[in-house]
Amino acid sequence: MTDTVRAIDDLRRRRRAAILAHSYQPADIQALADFVGDSLELSRAAASMDCETVVLCGVRFMAETAAVLAPDRTVLHPVPDAGCPLASCMDTSGLAALQNDHPGARTVVYVNSSIEAKAMSWACCTSANATAVVSAAPSGEVVFGPDRNLGAFVASRTGKKLWIFDGGCPPHHSMDLSDVARKRRLWPDAKLLVHPEAPPAAWAVADAVLGTGAMISFVRDSSASRFLIGTESGMVHRLRTLFPDREFEPVGSVSCPDMKKITPADVLASLERMEPVTRIDPAVAEAARASVARMASIG
Ligand code: 13P
Repeated sequence: MTDTVRAIDDLRRRRRAAILAHSYQPADIQALADFVGDSLELSRAAASMDCETVVLCGVRFMAETAAVLAPDRTVLHPVPDAGCPLASCMDTSGLAALQNDHPGARTVVYVNSSIEAKAMSWACCTSANATAVVSAAPSGEVVFGPDRNLGAFVASRTGKKLWIFDGGCPPHHSMDLSDVARKRRLWPDAKLLVHPEAPPAAWAVADAVLGTGAMISFVRDSSASRFLIGTESGMVHRLRTLFPDREFEPVGSVSCPDMKKITPADVLASLERMEPVTRIDPAVAEAARASVARMASIG
């Protein structure tokens, strides 16, 4: 154990802190976390774990969601500069324009969005429950954003008419399909799992299109011994840790620089200073609460 990890352990006890990490986080952050999970699991854990402080190791929208769901806890986000280009590609005027064009449609936004966009929506969703949330919306037409690929995937599963914002996750959307095909040839027996933020051409060759939490369940329930993983490379570390008797290979060169910004030294510094705290304008947080709570309760 390093001095940094020892100091984090000491402060985590004194601050009654829970360290939550997304499965895309670097190996050293996953190793020191109290809980590692997908976006939906992290938001639920932030509200339900027995703690006073949450250290959210992920990107900013994850810390914001935790702060809305757990207003009585201090939510630390060790590197506030760790953002999400997908979340920031849809501003409120872009979403409002889509809503004005389709006044009869409820709005569902992906959790990878700004807190202001969530405040404008009926519900938000993650990749784990997007189909269930859109199905639950009390309208036949739904405005959806900001991820065009997830939107198209959900539309194909629900039969509802979706009006989809034209945004995307740069690392997933630019997945290298020639690498996918090459590794398919190298490991012909492997199951190929891809994230719904990947382009439809990747889903077409995949064995399953799944969010990160569902990828873990798929592997657990599968009799296959090798898997090709078409999502952010941190997920490969997570799967190798959970299933040391299986083999995993990343495909498509999907790497998110923002997910790699937090180091153990940043976690320690945030616990020492009890900063940076994720603070949300109270009126915006209040407006977003129903949407975020619906996400956490469905699916
Ligand atoms: P999950 O909801 O599958 O964890 O995905 C989060 C994410 O940010 C994908 O880019």
